[in-house]
Amino acid sequence: MEEKKKRIFSGIQPSGELTLGSYMGAIKNWVALQDEYDCLYCIVDMHAITVRQEPALLRKRSVNQLAQYIACGLDPKKNIMFIQSHVPQHAELGWVLGCYTQFGELSRMTQFKAKAKQHADNITSGLFTYPVLMAADILLYQADLVPVGEDQKQHVELTRDIAQRFNGVYSDTFTLPEPFIPQMGARVMSLGDPGNKMSKSDPDGCVFLMDKPEDIMRKFKRAVTDCETAVKFDKVNKAGISNLLTIYCTATGKTIEEAEAEFEGRGYGIFKPAVGEAVVELLRPIREESERMIADKAYLESVYKEGAQRAQYLANKTLSKVYRKIGFVAR
Ligand code: TYM
Repeated sequence: MEEKKKRIFSGIQPSGELTLGSYMGAIKNWVALQDEYDCLYCIVDMHAITVRQEPALLRKRSVNQLAQYIACGLDPKKNIMFIQSHVPQHAELGWVLGCYTQFGELSRMTQFKAKAKQHADNITSGLFTYPVLMAADILLYQADLVPVGEDQKQHVELTRDIAQRFNGVYSDTFTLPEPFIPQMGARVMSLGDPGNKMSKSDPDGCVFLMDKPEDIMRKFKRAVTDCETAVKFDKVNKAGISNLLTIYCTATGKTIEEAEAEFEGRGYGIFKPAVGEAVVELLRPIREESERMIADKAYLESVYKEGAQRAQYLANKTLSKVYRKIGFVAR
C-alpha cells in the first residue's frame, strides 16, 4: 500500500520583492521537496499588513509573487498555491490560538523585537500577535514540515509549543510541525553589511530575484569584504567572504572546499564578480519566466482561485474539529 505523503506548509510575505535570501533559505527547498511531500505554498498577505503597505502595491506584489513561485519551479499541479486572505480559516484559527498563547511567549520573539525597533511609531497588536497567525497557518493544514530560513525557526518552535499545549488540554488535535532549515543558505547576509541578514528593507545589500544582470554585478562588485586577500570560509573573521562563498556554493552546487580551491591565490577582484556571474545565471531563467508569467493574469487567477478552494477544504476539517473541541455550538 502506498504510504500517505507527509504535509508541508510554508509562506512568504508579499511586503516587498522576493530576495536571494528568501530563494536560498526557503523557495529552493520548496522546489526540492514538492515531489516527496504534499505541499501548500502561500502568499501571506495578512502577515504583510502588520506593517503599513501601499494597497495597490500589495495587490500587485501578491499576484506577482505567485508568478515568481511558479517561475522558480513550483508546479501548481503538484502543490496547493494560494493567497492567505482567500482562506478565512487562517484568521479564525488565529483568534482561537491567541487564547492559548502567553503574552510572555510573544514578548520573547526576536523578530517582534527587531520590527518594533524598526517601526517604533507603529507597533500594532497585529505585529505582536503575528506569530500566532503563523501558527494557525501551519496547524490548519496539519503540516509535518515547515521549510524556512533560520530567522523563522523560533516561530516554528512556538507553533509546536502552542500545538502541544492545545493537544494537552483537548487531546490530539494538531500535528507537531518541525522546521526544515537548509544546511547552506539558511541565513544569507547583506552584501553591504555582512553582520546583518539580507533583507528587502535594505535594497543596497539585497539582491532581488527580478534584478537585472548589471544591477546584480554592481551589487556583488561592491560587496563589503575585509582587507585580506584569501578566499577562505571563516564566519567570525571573514563574514563578508564567508557569505559570498555560501552564495556561490548555493548557486552552483559546489562545496566550500571546491570553491576555496578554485579561487586560491586569485584575490577578491576575481572572486566577487565570479559570485555575481553565478547569481546572474541562477536568476536569469527565473526572471525571464516570471516576466512571461506576470503577463498571464488569467492563468495566475485560475491558479490562486483553485488553490484557495483546495486549501479551504483542508482548513475547514481542522477548524471544525477545533471548534467542536473547545465547545462552540455547531453552525
Ligand atoms: P519572510 O517573508 O520574511 O521570509 C520568507 C522566507 O525566506 C526566508 N528568508 C531568508 N533565508 C535566508 N537568508 C535570508 N536573508 C532570508 N530572508 C528571508 C525566511 O526564513 C522565510 O522562510 N513569518 C514568515 C512568513 C510566514 C510563514 C508562515 C512561513 C507566515 N506564515 C507559515 C512558514 C510557515 C516570514 O516573515 O517570512
